[in-house]
Amino acid sequence: MRAVLLGPPGAGKGTQAVKLVEKYNVPQISTGDIFRKNIKEGTELGKKAQEYMNSGQLVPDELVVDLVKDRLMQDDCANGYLLDGFPRTIFQAQELDKFLAENGQKLDAVINFEVGYETLMERLTGRRICKKCGAGYHIKNIPPKVEGICDKCGGELEQRKDDTRETAENRIAVYEESTAPLIGYYTETGALKNFNAEKDHSVVFEEIVKELGE
Ligand code: AP5
Ligand code: MG
Repeated sequence: MRAVLLGPPGAGKGTQAVKLVEKYNVPQISTGDIFRKNIKEGTELGKKAQEYMNSGQLVPDELVVDLVKDRLMQDDCANGYLLDGFPRTIFQAQELDKFLAENGQKLDAVINFEVGYETLMERLTGRRICKKCGAGYHIKNIPPKVEGICDKCGGELEQRKDDTRETAENRIAVYEESTAPLIGYYTETGALKNFNAEKDHSVVFEEIVKELGE
């Protein structure tokens, strides 16, 4: 199964990806997670990406495309993968298409998450992430059993640096300008499948599985 999760910041891509990778047994390739890991580890890539991410801008295409292509060549991607947050520009989508053609692969679906602006802001500003294992929560919608503590590993929950109201607004604006055109791009290829992602996360999951098949 090869699929792209497409949607604005806070739409629920990461939340669904965690459930989908378990169901389909393919890796989640989240470019945002890869950059955050590099920032944490202080790598050269992390240093380059940090400024863009903290201000809600996209990391330049040239820092993203080869990274993803290398990742998709790894053994665990042989039977499929779930792209979360990539592609995010028309250029990235074209590069992905070239990669797929060169490797005799095809996307099964581009899952497009449709969510309104107010919901996105509420989800982003209420999101919490475990410092230790990266599990995601929301203070109201998907709260941990004990406030501030991860259910899975007992780690401390924190807010993502780019989840302040101001940066979240920037990220949504950047999405509208640079990423939303991919909806047209993938409508033309026939891969686009729209989902109302305002619904409860378990309902969204069921509807995606219905589309992708058991
Ligand atoms: P990235 O990490 O990809 O962030 P994003 O696209 O902004 O998306 P988010 O992770 O914020 O949202 P999500 O859709 O995963 O939502 P989630 O499931 O967490 O990218 C970060 C940055 O990295 C970018 O700004 C850019 O700088 C850079 N970058 C990354 N990829 C790049 C690329 N390809 N090119 C260039 N730059 C790149 O859910 C959000 C919240 O809502 C959570 O609290 C969750 O619990 C809750 N929630 C989820 N679903 C539901 C539901 N159905 N009902 C109620 N609450 C829900
Ligand atoms: Mg995410």
